[in-house]
Amino acid sequence: MYPNNSPTSPDVPLDPVAAVTHADPYPFYASLRAGLPLAWNEKLRLWVASRAEVIEEVLQAHGALRVRPAAEPVPNAIAGSPAGEVFGHLVRMNDGAAHEAHRPALQRALAGLDLNTVREAALQVARQVQQQPLSDTLFSMPVRSVARLLGFADEALPQVDLWTRDFVACLSPLSTASQLQGASTAAGELMTRFEGLVAGTPPRRGTLLAGVLAESAAPSRSLLANLVGLLSQTCDATAGLLGNSLIALMRDPSLRASARTRDGLQAIVEETARHDPSVHNTRRFVAEPVTIAGTPLAAGDTVLVLLASANRDPSFNPDPDSFILVRAKRRMLGFGRGMHACPGQALACTLAAAGLEALLQRVPDIDAQRLRGWHYRPSVAARVPVFH
Ligand code: HEM
Repeated sequence: MYPNNSPTSPDVPLDPVAAVTHADPYPFYASLRAGLPLAWNEKLRLWVASRAEVIEEVLQAHGALRVRPAAEPVPNAIAGSPAGEVFGHLVRMNDGAAHEAHRPALQRALAGLDLNTVREAALQVARQVQQQPLSDTLFSMPVRSVARLLGFADEALPQVDLWTRDFVACLSPLSTASQLQGASTAAGELMTRFEGLVAGTPPRRGTLLAGVLAESAAPSRSLLANLVGLLSQTCDATAGLLGNSLIALMRDPSLRASARTRDGLQAIVEETARHDPSVHNTRRFVAEPVTIAGTPLAAGDTVLVLLASANRDPSFNPDPDSFILVRAKRRMLGFGRGMHACPGQALACTLAAAGLEALLQRVPDIDAQRLRGWHYRPSVAARVPVFH
């Protein structure tokens, strides 16, 4: 974790994982793109994909490359616990039948959301979030919005928010023993609450829960786990998108006039998702020998996929280092590609735009906030600012 602009921050990230939380990792990513299409990193003991075309190839090689290592479908640290149970069912963490069982329902339900209604709900929820450190608000606004869309009562939102954040801690290899314990408690509580919601009165028409249930067979533990997954997938990623959008406005005063309109806010968020995204990388695990970009990979190998680097690849987006609100054809891989691509992209951008609108009312002097600075939360994949 390096404070933004701190003299202790190394000029160049130590490696492609440290890049996620570096003050400015983008020149480093450019240097990786100038190297081999798939480069072996001896320190991390994995292959690194940094160019857009190679990343697209990796993300579409579904049979040979999997989202989890065959030997460890659930991280050993949580296997056998309630957090492990939820993790083991998530479509994000499965290929094959367990992925197919719920992905179509989640995708259709998310695609069926009315984004005007989502925006209204998100603005209402944002107004109800009490004063708390700005960095916590980044999480509370989107997570509570999704909890409400899923059918939780307003009184339950603060607790669901806390449990979601506790559960998400188990998804990181940086978690401590007490965080893992907290994650398991939270996973158990969230499963119980979803059980109650699903068993209760039929969910309101138009809610995300109604959409998922309408698209699914009878509710099962694995479906409930994937409802928890909608909260956890929202959490760090959307908090980061919201925070990084605020940073874009801090850095470039010429963008601020655009932040006065709904379309302008949406455009700021969408360009931030390309230019300074919240999810910097994902991983793939080689299940059977395969050749990617001319490089033979062996079963058991790991590929680190630098999604944030792809967005800045000049062959993918012209003038990639400039923040350009209206691009003729914005291309990005920060929401993945292929079978596991994020089904929540439109929802996330709507939530972040509504959150930004609400934040700008709360933090009218963003220059003062910029001078106080920020650093990034410790993470191996998510770029989420902590404002000082
Ligand atoms: C800025 C916010 C978000 C970002 C950057 C993001 C990014 C991603 C990425 C990169 C993946 C694919 C990972 C991989 O292939 O390894 C993914 C998957 C997923 N995301 Fe998002 N996401 C965001 C918000 C959301 C939201 C709000 C939801 C739903 C409420 C959501 C639901 C999912 C689900 C269910 C998957 C798993 C899909 C599958 O494996 O088939 N995401 N997301």
